[in-house]
Amino acid sequence: MFICRHCGSPSKGMLPERCGCGHTPPVVDSVFQLCDDPPISMAHEGRRYLGYEHVGENYDGPNAPDPEEYGIFGGCSTKLVELLGRGCLVLDLGAGLGPASITLARAGARTIAADISQRMLAVAARRAATERLDGALVFARMNAYSLPIAAASIDAVVANDVLHQLDNPEAAVAEVLRVLKPAGVFVQYGSAGLPVTDEQAGINRRCGDALNDIREHYREALLARGYGGLPYSSWDRVTASIAKCFTPPDVLRTGYEGVWTGAMAKGVHKLETRASGSAQLIPDAIHAAAWQDAHDYATRKYGTNYRDLPGYSRYTGILKVYRVRDRAA
Ligand SMILES: C[S@@+](CC[C@H](N)C(=O)[O-])C[C@H]1O[C@@H](n2cnc3c(N)ncnc32)[C@H](O)[C@@H]1O
Repeated sequence: MFICRHCGSPSKGMLPERCGCGHTPPVVDSVFQLCDDPPISMAHEGRRYLGYEHVGENYDGPNAPDPEEYGIFGGCSTKLVELLGRGCLVLDLGAGLGPASITLARAGARTIAADISQRMLAVAARRAATERLDGALVFARMNAYSLPIAAASIDAVVANDVLHQLDNPEAAVAEVLRVLKPAGVFVQYGSAGLPVTDEQAGINRRCGDALNDIREHYREALLARGYGGLPYSSWDRVTASIAKCFTPPDVLRTGYEGVWTGAMAKGVHKLETRASGSAQLIPDAIHAAAWQDAHDYATRKYGTNYRDLPGYSRYTGILKVYRVRDRAA
């Protein structure tokens, strides 16, 4: 299902191996190199994207999901494979550190973990290396704007938290549509809140308010130093482009339930390490000064242990499954 970048022929098996034309894609740290595009590109409007090359393992930070089940990812992947059948072919687009890809392969899907960031994929491949996934999982560096994958060859494309990292989500959704089989599905993993007590809701509100306050202080500290440009996060365009090509989703509940108390620790870690798409671009010196400001502010207002302020939410994993709209309509 892979397309040779030299001659355009499709590969026969699960691996983008040596093509009949003689081209063999290079492999670096267990990751097939299927494109030469840079990990981050702000160069051309309509084709910009923010790969997570400067994020790497910081993406997980404290409270990283338990690798036994990867939190909601495990429940969602199991549910998806139940729906499609073992052996289904799934593209995990913007796979990051691989929680969906690894749990999909464990559940019996043939899985392509695709990302533009070599660093993210290399960490994911390292994590998967300790498991016997029997060739069911392939790591491949590629760009969502131009997938090196044959038309109508994929059963499901999973895209979690990635399309808003592109300034042209419509183009990426068109690529998703191209590679999906006619009966294929586009899938997003997510969570839905479960009931909590008033006391737990209060704990969570205080945590959320404090985290937003610290984020806002950091943003103002950036602005005060002349940095206002955190680029897009175009969720509205993402939602609209999905709605144009796919039917409204079936929302399926998974068996997974969890409790999350670490919102503050994780939120602060992401700020401090610039572990998100657009924040990667903030210049070092400006970030260091602005973060120091925000940290001092947080310490004064919430105490030296402000990172430990607990949140509280209960949630279940849900799967949003979108089907291709009638292409003739
Ligand atoms: C917020 S992370 C989500 C990672 C993973 N899906 C998860 O849910 O944990 C976004 C991922 O999209 C990747 N990404 C950004 N632009 C991309 C592009 N043009 N093509 C492929 N991947 C891209 C980033 O490198 C990053 O790993």
